[in-house]
Amino acid sequence: MIKVAPSILSADYVNLEASIKKIEHSADAIHIDIMDGQFVPSIAYGPGWVKAIRPITNLKLDIHMMVENPERFVKPLADAGADIIDVHKEATPHIHRALQMIHKAGCKAGVVINPGTSVESIRPVLYLADQVLVMTVNPGFGGQKFIPEMVNKIQELSDLRKKYGYKYDIEIDGGVNNHTVKSAYKAGTDVAVAGSFVFDNPDPAAQVRSIKQATK
Ligand code: DX5
Ligand code: ZN
Repeated sequence: MIKVAPSILSADYVNLEASIKKIEHSADAIHIDIMDGQFVPSIAYGPGWVKAIRPITNLKLDIHMMVENPERFVKPLADAGADIIDVHKEATPHIHRALQMIHKAGCKAGVVINPGTSVESIRPVLYLADQVLVMTVNPGFGGQKFIPEMVNKIQELSDLRKKYGYKYDIEIDGGVNNHTVKSAYKAGTDVAVAGSFVFDNPDPAAQVRSIKQATK
């Protein structure tokens, strides 16, 4: 069964703790999007939020940085209590160093690829990655449509993992619901991020369970 990391980008910002409590017993992690208004048009969250969220839940905090010069935020996020820090390949010319920095800060390191970026381009750092996040929409906003062509990349990553004994989890983010998750799971996805499908509903926990149910 797939693991689910609800994205609090679609949660109730004013009652964030209540939103988190709703999914705490059905989810496997919390996905926190950090957006700088440069790498993506929107602005969202930051290390201060991670620090505030850390004490209110035992769930792992999966931090998706959509920022320019992501190296700046590795230490502040680690100090704030991040468990996994995900860095976009496109956001830095030094993705290898960024992943090393994350490990040095004591966190798990994720590498993220946009829909227009190939698996081939991150081949040299796959041995360092604890997680590979395949964007299944163009980043920046919740509520977009899943791009089915991205499933080929999941398959490719899954094949490479098998062939070379890599240890990374494969995560998907964008447009995930209880239908789109199926082909992605079959191709080898371990963790599904879901924002609007989970939180734009009066029963977020049931939404998380329905994603899991779809991959049983
Ligand atoms: C998009 C963010 C996602 C977002 C997904 O750039 O990285 O985490 O919250 O939202 P949905 O699940 O609504 O596509
Ligand atoms: Zn995200």
